[in-house]
Amino acid sequence: MRDAMRLFLAINLSGPVKAALIDAQNEMYDGGVRGSYTPEENLHLTLAFIGEYPDPEPVLEALGELSFSPFELSPEGVGCFGDLWWAGMRASPQPAALARRIRHALAEKDIPFDRKRFSPHITLIRRARGSMPEITMRPASMTVDAFSLMRSDRGRNGMLYTELARFPADIDRGAACR
Ligand code: 2AM
Repeated sequence: MRDAMRLFLAINLSGPVKAALIDAQNEMYDGGVRGSYTPEENLHLTLAFIGEYPDPEPVLEALGELSFSPFELSPEGVGCFGDLWWAGMRASPQPAALARRIRHALAEKDIPFDRKRFSPHITLIRRARGSMPEITMRPASMTVDAFSLMRSDRGRNGMLYTELARFPADIDRGAACR
């Protein structure tokens, strides 16, 4: 039998959005906060966490038909869950709507996932120590034109995330006449 893989669905972030998040991390570090900082290549927004699962194929089938429109995402503000610090985002219904539709499609195919309430966040530091300074997040924005099926492996120097599949948004074909 194939080894199980740790799977999740996420939005991978653009270079400019990651750069703004790295600046915020640097402000935290310069303010004396220590902990496990998420490396730039691992910054993402999780939409659904499947966890250990033997095969990505049923996930591809479950989500292959899901259609969604591109939307804007802008990180804004920081917050924490205990000693995990994250960046939030400008209020908008679209990330939660996409997460809901993904979760619904997984449930319909009996693919298990973590049913914790969706709380959109981008993890910046785990196991943070020290008092958090006031952070001013540089404005940045991206168009979300896809979400991805990601595999997570524990590497020698931390987590390694690999994109297994990309699910693009619908292309706006406009109202061109034929
Ligand atoms: P976190 O950043 O808040 O830890 C890969 O582990 C991604 O899945 C991370 O973004 C992580 O969120 C998220 N995730 C959601 N539920 C999880 C769970 N039950 N266990 C591990 N990661 C989870």
